[in-house]
Amino acid sequence: MSVKLNVELAGLKLKNPIILASGILGISKKMLLSVAKAGAGAVTTKSITIKPREGHKNPILIQTTEETFLNAVGYSNPGLEESKKEFKDLSNFPVPVIGSLVGSDAEEFAYLAENVKGIDFKAIEIVLSCPHTPGFGLLAEQGTPEATEEITLAVRRKTKLPLFVKVSPNIMCLGDVVKAAEKAGADGITAINTVGPGMAIDVETAKPILDFKFGGMSGPAIRPIAIRCVYDIYESVKIPIIGLGGIITGKDAIEMIMAGATAVGIGTGIYYRELDIFKKVCDEINEFMKSHGYSKLKDIVGIAHRD
Ligand SMILES: Cc1cc2nc3c(=O)[nH]c(=O)nc-3n(C[C@H](O)[C@H](O)[C@H](O)COP(=O)(O)O)c2cc1C
Repeated sequence: MSVKLNVELAGLKLKNPIILASGILGISKKMLLSVAKAGAGAVTTKSITIKPREGHKNPILIQTTEETFLNAVGYSNPGLEESKKEFKDLSNFPVPVIGSLVGSDAEEFAYLAENVKGIDFKAIEIVLSCPHTPGFGLLAEQGTPEATEEITLAVRRKTKLPLFVKVSPNIMCLGDVVKAAEKAGADGITAINTVGPGMAIDVETAKPILDFKFGGMSGPAIRPIAIRCVYDIYESVKIPIIGLGGIITGKDAIEMIMAGATAVGIGTGIYYRELDIFKKVCDEINEFMKSHGYSKLKDIVGIAHRD
């Protein structure tokens, strides 16, 4: 039996459902191309701010348990003007490129959406959910239903591209947040951003290890939280979901799809299985589908919700 891994995601046609998450290898066109060549169905850029940002000081990324990473990168990126140059020619890019945008308020988000029009992004992702960067995301109170609606609406007015809103697991009103995004015109939800924030202390120096002291958790340890969030979001809205958080294997991706995700993001997984992860996860999904008699992914999206 042949299995079809292609999916349609908010109008985007993907050859497979596996997407590079924002923040990992997405700073240059060359890096995105290497991920596309490694087999990703779509790739997301590192989040872009209006002005260049150095981000937090090193150490910014540490592994604290076998299953847990902590990062406090702090949105280091070259800013809008440099990003426009870096990504200026994406016309022949082999897979859709999703532009990740980050602002400190609705006005900044709208400005970014307006000013990336010259770049051949196939979709926009707005990030309202970073737990460790002052002035952005949760530390700028963008994780509320009200802020989500205001920011999504402001961006919606500036772009016709498929628009994804990236949400946080660290809030109690996730259902209301995604409903607000849908109401304001979002075409999809990306869930989840990192968990926490968390902290690790070096017992020899008796000091927090990350220079910023705390950071967002990622990796396999957060997968149960991601699965629960995607399951809840699927019950709350009709728009499709990019599910991510701790996906390492094809079985993890299947679990995410069964919870309700149409596509699946991979970030920290690259530290475990290197770039091969994209092809390996697709092969593993393929095997699972075959051995369980499923012929297309659509048939298992949200299947865990059925009685
Ligand atoms: C080093 C690092 C940098 C990240 N930078 C961003 C970023 O710039 N924008 C963003 O939306 N998410 C960022 N994230 C969050 C990831 O996109 C993802 O939502 C999260 O790590 C959970 O998925 P994972 O367990 O597969 O990594 C970053 C994560 C890591 C580990």
